[in-house]
Amino acid sequence: MVLPGYTYGDPGLPPSPVSLEALHQLKAALLWSEEDEKALKEAGEVLKDQVEEVLDLWYSFVGSHPHLLHYFTDGQGNPIPEYLERVRKRFGQWVLDTCFRPHDEAWLAYQHEIGLRHHRTKKNQTDGVASVPHIPLRYLIAFIYPITATIRPFLAKKGHPPEAVERMHQAWFKAVVLQVALWSYPYAKEGDF
Ligand code: HEM
Repeated sequence: MVLPGYTYGDPGLPPSPVSLEALHQLKAALLWSEEDEKALKEAGEVLKDQVEEVLDLWYSFVGSHPHLLHYFTDGQGNPIPEYLERVRKRFGQWVLDTCFRPHDEAWLAYQHEIGLRHHRTKKNQTDGVASVPHIPLRYLIAFIYPITATIRPFLAKKGHPPEAVERMHQAWFKAVVLQVALWSYPYAKEGDF
């Protein structure tokens, strides 16, 4: 399947300014363990046939708050449907990537790319849209909560015991915090990341 604008693993994608060593240290700072890697894979198995329902929920959340939907509009209050749709497809892929992709250089490079795509450096370019230019960092950080809280019922839907659901949920929480930490790179002043 071709996913417009999805450039994971593209040889043309610039490497991340964050080294594997720095990534390793960042993961240690959020108590990442090998257990989390396993639990995330399990989460991926649980979520893979529920991605559309997850996206319906997240999109209805964003859509019901005009100040959040704003970032998918032309700035005059008109949402841009092609933009919403194309980003939705990549968002679906991201759920799977979060669970299944190894944390290597290609992963780091695409993390950096996603950060740039939220920031004025690169927002709108991928889909060639005339939307508002920039998403504030405070909202990226705040979204860690809804993106984490709302996934839990989906993790619980396949009959896993509560301890397994908890393990998957904690691993998901860490994986989202880790990524938003990496996405903050373009938002930080030189030397402050
Ligand atoms: C793009 C996830 C916060 C609005 C994306 C993509 C993902 C994603 C996976 C597509 C990346 C790709 O192109 O492959 C997340 C997560 C967030 C977060 C996990 C926080 C935990 C936000 C917030 C907003 C937002 C707070 C604004 C309300 C957008 C927009 C795009 C986008 C407008 C398209 C950017 C572009 O022009 O390329 N997001 N996002 N995101 N997100 Fe977010």
